[in-house]
Amino acid sequence: MTPSKGLQKAMNDQVRKEFESAYLYLSMAAWMEDQTLPGFAAWLRLQAREEAIHAMKIFEHLIDRSCRVALQPLAGPPTTFKTPLDVFEQVKKHEEKVTRSIDELYGLAVDDRDYASQVFLEWFITEQVEEEKNSTQVLENVRRVGDNQAALVMLDRELGQRGATAEAGE
Ligand SMILES: [Fe+2]
Ligand SMILES: [Fe+2]
Repeated sequence: MTPSKGLQKAMNDQVRKEFESAYLYLSMAAWMEDQTLPGFAAWLRLQAREEAIHAMKIFEHLIDRSCRVALQPLAGPPTTFKTPLDVFEQVKKHEEKVTRSIDELYGLAVDDRDYASQVFLEWFITEQVEEEKNSTQVLENVRRVGDNQAALVMLDRELGQRGATAEAGE
């Protein structure tokens, strides 16, 4: 059974939103590099890569269910940011927006009694809990650092290590 037209359209939109998330985080990574904060940049690069994987999961699911995938233009992300705090406030807000979007998809699948889509989307619901938790943790740490440059360098180093561990685990 293929998903309803409405759900197919919403899932196509979600492919775009996931790629837009990747694009946003990559833009943030580029800005962090420019600020000589390579650890923050590594963390954001890794996030960007995960978002592209999310997009591909939905892409493949649509194809598995004989749906037409029509890729949409991506919105250009902001290219400059005020501070690391500004970046992570935006990351958290962005993840909350994505969670609402996933919840809406799930709602559509429930309305349609589309159980295959519900099971598929459950992975994303769980993933969003993790995404919000991680972005909140980094945001709170950046907040604690405040104007202390030495602490910022320490946090940068710590986040860079997370990136290195993930790379090694691949
Ligand atoms: Fe995502
Ligand atoms: Fe995300």
